[in-house]
Amino acid sequence: MQTAEIQRRWLNFFGDRGHTVVPSASLVTDDPTLLFTVAGMVPFIPYFTGVVPAPFPRATSVQKCIRTLDIEEVGKTTRHGTFFQMNGNFSFGDYFKEGAISYAWELLTTAESDGGLGFEERDLWVTVYEDDDEAIELWKRIAGLPEERIQRLGKSDNYWHTGQPGPGGPCSEIYFDRGPQYGADGGPAVDDSRYLEIWNLVFMQYLLKEVRSKTDFDIAGELPKKNIDTGMGMERVAFLKQGVDNMYEIDQVRPVLDMAAELSGRRYGAQHDDDVRMRVIADHVRSSLMLMTDGVAPSNEGRGYILRRLLRRVVRAMRLLGVDAPSFAELFDASRLAMRDAYPEVDAEYERTSRLALGEEETFLRTLASGTTILDVAVEDTKKAGGDKLSGDTAFLLHDTFGFPIDLTLEVAEEAGLSVDRSAFDALMSEQRARAKADAKSKKAGLADLSVYSELRALGETVFTGYDYLETESRILGLIKDGVSVTAARAGETVEVILAETALYAESGGQAADKGSIVGDGFELEVLDVQRPVKGLVSHTVRVRSGEVGVGRPATSVVDREYRHSAAQAHSATHLIHAALRQTLGQDAHQSGSFNKAGYMRLDFSWNQALSHETRSEIEEIANNAVRDNLEVVTRILPLDEARKAGAMALFGEKYGDTVRMVDIGGPWSRELCAGTHVRTSAEVGLVNLVSESSVGSANRRVEALVGLDAFRDLAAERAIVSQLTSSLKTPREQLPDRIADLVSQLKAAEKKIAAFEASKLQGRVPELAQAAKRVGDVLAVIEDLGELASVDELRKLVTAVRERLQAEAAVVALAARVEGKPSVIVATTAGARDAGVKAGPLAKGAAAVLGGGGGGKDDMAQGGGSDASALPAALESVRSALLG
Ligand code: ALA
Repeated sequence: MQTAEIQRRWLNFFGDRGHTVVPSASLVTDDPTLLFTVAGMVPFIPYFTGVVPAPFPRATSVQKCIRTLDIEEVGKTTRHGTFFQMNGNFSFGDYFKEGAISYAWELLTTAESDGGLGFEERDLWVTVYEDDDEAIELWKRIAGLPEERIQRLGKSDNYWHTGQPGPGGPCSEIYFDRGPQYGADGGPAVDDSRYLEIWNLVFMQYLLKEVRSKTDFDIAGELPKKNIDTGMGMERVAFLKQGVDNMYEIDQVRPVLDMAAELSGRRYGAQHDDDVRMRVIADHVRSSLMLMTDGVAPSNEGRGYILRRLLRRVVRAMRLLGVDAPSFAELFDASRLAMRDAYPEVDAEYERTSRLALGEEETFLRTLASGTTILDVAVEDTKKAGGDKLSGDTAFLLHDTFGFPIDLTLEVAEEAGLSVDRSAFDALMSEQRARAKADAKSKKAGLADLSVYSELRALGETVFTGYDYLETESRILGLIKDGVSVTAARAGETVEVILAETALYAESGGQAADKGSIVGDGFELEVLDVQRPVKGLVSHTVRVRSGEVGVGRPATSVVDREYRHSAAQAHSATHLIHAALRQTLGQDAHQSGSFNKAGYMRLDFSWNQALSHETRSEIEEIANNAVRDNLEVVTRILPLDEARKAGAMALFGEKYGDTVRMVDIGGPWSRELCAGTHVRTSAEVGLVNLVSESSVGSANRRVEALVGLDAFRDLAAERAIVSQLTSSLKTPREQLPDRIADLVSQLKAAEKKIAAFEASKLQGRVPELAQAAKRVGDVLAVIEDLGELASVDELRKLVTAVRERLQAEAAVVALAARVEGKPSVIVATTAGARDAGVKAGPLAKGAAAVLGGGGGGKDDMAQGGGSDASALPAALESVRSALLG
């Protein structure tokens, strides 16, 4: 049974039984406590906790998930995948244990020919939470399971939560017995490899706070209703149903594994270590592809870092398979073909995602090359020093700074006959982990306080009136100070204010928060920031300017008109530039991010080369033509499907509800999903002045523009500079570039003349210096300090010229000078002097030592330098005494 068929049967089964079929949410969650969607229930968390009323009593989904906690297990076991799909059925206060158990049993054991999954009853086992007698009774009654195939397990197996404060509860798991060839008898309590967990039924009924570990947490209380959250591992069921040995061999994954085998010329199944590597590659390539499709790009933190790690592990595994050449093009294409039926967006986004993958591969291969050089040098140094162990510091530096995996360091060191100080390396790693943990903990503590917001959110959604009004009278629903609800705040204090309605725009969709104030009878609050800490709730951070404010008081939010107008200009300009970019560069120029505030906008987009001057001007001109055309700006609320059909541009990874807001400028000329504030016609934007274009990471560019009055001011400032130049150079504006180029070349010519003059003046000193030669020891010597010179090269020319004059003698020339304050000495010898046993090298070296530096060279010419210019006379003296022997 193909994976797609399991998915179809699942959704049909629950759809037929009154469940709303909900499409998979993005892997990128909008829950700030979770990096990724880690389970099917994540998109439904607000319904379980009751923060948002559930729009349907029951739902079902096949959800894309990412979990990287067990990344080291991938490929070694049958079932650890960093990407997997969780099939879930959910009840929000509707059915409970009995319903969940009946549905699961029915779907699993109904024959394939009748639309079920066709498992044999005798192969199924279940576990329940230790004291859950009710579940045991239900399993006996509904499934007719004998007592010995129902096992009780503790919290570590049969209690489920996301690892963060939120909903949780005891659970009951269903296992498939793969047979005695896979392990010992005795059920899942004894062996969870032979007995494979396929489906988890969570009886979600508590709200957890303070989750310290899987088994150590505090229960805050009961949830408003008893809920059901289940998760069936689709990959696990697929591998059982497809008669293969593990999840890496199912139809959606195997083609990548085969490609790795083909590229490496090694056979899958021939050698254990190679098999593990191929499975790691197959898993990680798929996870990376799905993450990038949902808008994650490789980077050094957060989600991007996890993606980067997956990609780098693929490169590493390919190297261990003996492939040093780039291989992502083939591997990712194989994964695309295997995943596109279930996820058509994988195809649609492939231009962009493959560019990201290939860019990352190229960078990492380069990193490996430079890391290898550092490692080679360290290996050589260690050997030279007679050591046989590479230091932990080196291994850690390579790991931490160069992203160089430790096993690669081990391997290279071993090839060179060295070991690695593993315990020092491990100590450094665990220090680093402790730092990261402390960091994460402090973040989590902040997030636990979200419960304050959730309580206020339960009072209802904050209504945003600011599309139509710049002032709105409302009521203060809550005040928060330092994460805790308070009832009042006085002048000088900074607090967060929750209103029932607000005209102030909260930062979102790349648009900065509004500026403004909140006023009421006897108080005035200055708005410092406006955010949306949980979905549907707006929080205003304010400073109490005067008076005292209390919960329950009437209050009016007032938007700063000028600020809002400039902000609206900037946001509309962002849409104009986006449309202009796509008209100029084509549909591949995907927006990857944007930010706008009054007078300024920037937009990031995927593109792998700098824009030429002409392209920049073209984009700017298209945007300004649109301003001149006075296009109408129309916003509409409509179902997501209709907006998509109308061709609206949406951002990847962004979550949209069922209904969306579509902003048109000039009809389809620019059509985007957007919740921001905009001008009424494009002419109101005034002016767009594209001021810069730059790179932000690999295959990503950024354009920045000033908008409206700020654009004008910037141009006016440039005009002022130009007019200063025209008057001081007495040149009309259009001739300025030529005039300045002329001046620069005249200046260069003059500098050349001066240099030639200086050189001839110096050469003029040659006869006089040669004449000053005196006998010192066995030779004639010229030993002089020439003072300040322009370059060491000049000094060398002088030395050579003086020696030339004394060619017939046994002579030594030692001249010193300062170049930009630094002392140098150059010593030259004639053939006669060398015959007499005098060498330039040791003389220069001796002088350099006096200058606090080093030097050396050949017998006929050598140079020395140092840092102490005041020691020059002493340095020359050292030459003299050396000659005297
Ligand atoms: N949320 C439950 C799990 O992930 C079903 O196992």
